[in-house]
Amino acid sequence: MYVRPAVAGDADFLWRILLEAYNWNGEQRFTAQQLAAEPHAARYLVGWPRRDDFGVIAQTDAGEPIGAAWARQLPESEPGYGFVAPDVPELSLGLLPEYRGRGYGRTLMEALIQVAAEGPSPIARLSLSVEDGNPALRLYTALGFTRVGRSGDSDTMVLDVRTCPTPLNSR
Ligand SMILES: CC(C)(COP(=O)(O)OP(=O)(O)OC[C@H]1O[C@@H](n2cnc3c(N)ncnc32)[C@H](O)[C@@H]1OP(=O)(O)O)[C@@H](O)C(=O)NCCC(=O)NCCS
Repeated sequence: MYVRPAVAGDADFLWRILLEAYNWNGEQRFTAQQLAAEPHAARYLVGWPRRDDFGVIAQTDAGEPIGAAWARQLPESEPGYGFVAPDVPELSLGLLPEYRGRGYGRTLMEALIQVAAEGPSPIARLSLSVEDGNPALRLYTALGFTRVGRSGDSDTMVLDVRTCPTPLNSR
């Protein structure tokens, strides 16, 4: 597995991964069509890539995409579930089911945080939303995200990229 930057041609795959994130518990709560028609969900990807969007794709050695993490700034008038402020990009993350539990999610998150910290326009903070019961919470906590609020059945979490206590800053 290797990680590369997400590009314009990855839009369809990112929609596939957004569906995985919405259906994280294995139930098909949303179909691809329902997701595309759901205004909140569409905010995370419509028009990908916008100027400030950034993301990373995990691929097999054969070049097949298997997972992604990306981040987008959203305005207060059209917030995501993990909205904190317009200048705090909200991230989305997911892997195809058969590739989970091998450390790839953590690798994707570390790569995304690195792009946020060192990319062309450095980002101070990243936010996300994680629904109650999603074991991804453990990953986010291990990476240094802290809970800053609630939205429905989900925690809103934030990482201060500048003081990120991940292995990234000790490399
Ligand atoms: C969330 C996701 C990307 C994590 O990727 P992953 O490759 O499965 O996770 P990793 O193997 O890198 O594990 C990293 C940590 O996450 C936690 N974790 C993630 N998924 C877990 C699970 N199903 N059960 C228990 N712990 C889990 C663990 O703390 C793990 O650390 P550890 O191995 O030291 O215990 C992946 O499970 C996934 O695609 N899930 C469905 C979509 C989703 O939930 N997206 C996030 C929405 S907020």
